[in-house]
Amino acid sequence: MEDRKWAEEIWKRLSAKFEKVAARNEDKLPGICIDGRYDDRRETNITSWTNGFWGGLMWVLYAGTDNEIFKRTAERSEELLDAAFLKYDWLHHDTGFMWHITAGADYKLTGNQSSYLRNMYAANILAGRYKIKGGYIRAWKGEEKEGYSIIDTMMNLAQLYWASDMTGDNRYKDIAMAHADMTMKCHIRPDGSVHHIVNHNPDTGEVIEYLAGQGMAVGSSWSRGQAWAIYGFVLSYIHTGKSEYLDVAKRVAHYFIAAVCEDYLPRCDFRSPEELVYYDSTAGAVAACGLLEIAKQVPEYEKELYRRAAMRLLQSMEINFCDWNQDVDAVLTMGTTAYGDNAVKNIPIIYGDYFFAEAIYKCIGGNILFW
Ligand code: GLY
Repeated sequence: MEDRKWAEEIWKRLSAKFEKVAARNEDKLPGICIDGRYDDRRETNITSWTNGFWGGLMWVLYAGTDNEIFKRTAERSEELLDAAFLKYDWLHHDTGFMWHITAGADYKLTGNQSSYLRNMYAANILAGRYKIKGGYIRAWKGEEKEGYSIIDTMMNLAQLYWASDMTGDNRYKDIAMAHADMTMKCHIRPDGSVHHIVNHNPDTGEVIEYLAGQGMAVGSSWSRGQAWAIYGFVLSYIHTGKSEYLDVAKRVAHYFIAAVCEDYLPRCDFRSPEELVYYDSTAGAVAACGLLEIAKQVPEYEKELYRRAAMRLLQSMEINFCDWNQDVDAVLTMGTTAYGDNAVKNIPIIYGDYFFAEAIYKCIGGNILFW
């Protein structure tokens, strides 16, 4: 089937299924799906970095359908998330994941002023994490983590670019670009693979060590980290026009495509033993979004490389990983949070559904950029 027709068919299935799923999950902040039901993090982990994806998913679906149930559910989710602002001391660098695709999307689509304020508060929390002498945005709390920058932060920078666009105050953008420049230098390896965590001297920015983070080991290649780099760097290019960011997005994309090209089903770590296969469908969904955005930025005869790789990822994951049973909450199965022992593996995770839907929205011609 032609790619566009395929995407339209998948979009129909997504919106039909999520119409049912939204009706039974209106009051939740889901993280993972267990026994066919999304869990709820309102009471257990209100500051979880994943708490924006349900609302974000609802906005993507609303943007592509105009179905009011998605708008209502997104608005409810945004209200539920306000409780996280009151846990300021538990917050972290993932304010973009939490508020840019919820409140930020609401403001973009409806002009809601309360949503504008929520996203602006969140942007200020993120900007406040910048280590001036070290030149990086601090990822996590905890004394021993003062020097940590992580690749995932690239996705949160969109919120800072937005804050500068809205206010005309460049300090948010300056922080975002300083962080992106540091990430190019310290996280991206010459072969296009990526270090998840870099521990810096907070006073000089000097690299003290690399840490395995959610990958298998130091020097391995955590696939979702690769995907954050692809999408994060092309977004930084879109928001700033700095051509080195597009070059990096392409370099990491080439590495990612080479690593998945056998079956287009991403493993959790591209440098892990074949016999122990933890898939991470979420990495494939994030990477597909980034590849589709790269395809829009490069000259005509380069576009197909990125677009086709995105389609292969999406189509392969649809055949092998998607669950279209409307009695089951999630669609995309086989997500893995991390390689290590304490992770959940090969299960549906909310950000898998979010990025899969966002990628399909792009494939049907949806032109709102949520980041
Ligand atoms: N941002 C954390 C993760 O990708 O698991």
